[in-house]
Amino acid sequence: MREIKIGLLGLGVVGSGVYRLLSENGDFMAQKTGSRLTIKKILVRDLGKPRPVSVPDGTLTTRAEEILEDPEIEIVCELMGGIEPAKSYILSALSAGKHVVTANKAVLAEFGPEVFQAAEAADRGLFFEAAVGGGVPIIKTLRESLSANRIQTITAIVNGTCNYILTRMQESGLSFKEALVEAQKLGFAEADPTLDISGMDSAHKLALLATLSYGSFVPAEKVYVEGIEGLEPLDLAFAKEFGFLTKLLAIAREKEGEVEVRVHPTLVPEGHMLSSVRLAYNAFLLKGDFVGEIMLYGLGAGAEPTASAVVADLLDAARLIISGAKPTSILYRETPLDIKPMPR
Ligand code: NAP
Ligand code: HSE
Repeated sequence: MREIKIGLLGLGVVGSGVYRLLSENGDFMAQKTGSRLTIKKILVRDLGKPRPVSVPDGTLTTRAEEILEDPEIEIVCELMGGIEPAKSYILSALSAGKHVVTANKAVLAEFGPEVFQAAEAADRGLFFEAAVGGGVPIIKTLRESLSANRIQTITAIVNGTCNYILTRMQESGLSFKEALVEAQKLGFAEADPTLDISGMDSAHKLALLATLSYGSFVPAEKVYVEGIEGLEPLDLAFAKEFGFLTKLLAIAREKEGEVEVRVHPTLVPEGHMLSSVRLAYNAFLLKGDFVGEIMLYGLGAGAEPTASAVVADLLDAARLIISGAKPTSILYRETPLDIKPMPR
């Protein structure tokens, strides 16, 4: 049995979920895949902080070099969030010859070309299923299953925190603030929840989905963004009276080479498939020119569903290591896309 050592960067909501999944399903995964994934070191900020998982003495460190410079560690799993130092650690891990798994949509949507090119130059895998959709396999669906299609539209609910807040305001009359506090307690929100409620986290995710759909980098700054901060329970109640639910939608459309990417609160008619997506669930309604319409649905945030996606990526990285296969490219087109400007 081949043992593959992993360095975790972060032991927060997602990192703890990953640790628990590897502990609970480790034997099962080893039997299935013939390789055992072992966490050797974990980077945190605060060694004394209480954790939802107990790890062997000496596993936690505050020194990133104990992971990035350890030749025994073959996969680095970045679950810290934020741009820096996460981005520098991802680049260092790749240039040290390690495969990287990350859930960090902010780094990929803002610095995609730099990070994707670093992975290609190092000939190492860069996996990011958990960056969009939590446990919903939307990245693999776009990169693999639908890769022969022109993706004509993506209409999606991609932020669990916002959908949770809107659901609780709509169904239970909670104030925006009360609903946000609940979403934070449940581990759905970003460390800085402004990213969620401003629509920026959705814009990061949409930019990544558009990048994968069109094969050319779509920068997050090109996405038109409106968040949900200004919405009151009364706005949602009025919309409901007229037969609409209010959802924060992320929409990408391609027509004749021109792409439109936008995130904003939208009135969705009751009875539409997206109107039934509640709480922290995400949904992706995709239309491809040959496949037609496809919908993916599932929990888009939280420790367990996100860990499910991260550990699947760790297993993909392990397969690359064992087979010696070459990782596949993320960007194909050399020419930038024509992105339609939206009114601000
Ligand atoms: P979190 O709970 O805030 O955990 C972050 C972890 O990283 C903590 O363990 C923290 O250490 C550590 N960390 C942060 N900055 C550090 C630094 N400068 N040096 C050393 N350690 C540092 O975040 P999370 O919710 O797990 O999210 C992690 C990533 O997953 C983010 O990119 C997020 O966008 C993404 N994601 C989250 C979810 C979700 O549902 N939460 C879902 C999908 C993707 P301490 O514990 O010592 O503070
Ligand atoms: N804060 C994010 C959300 C986490 O609520 O959707 C999942 O990416």
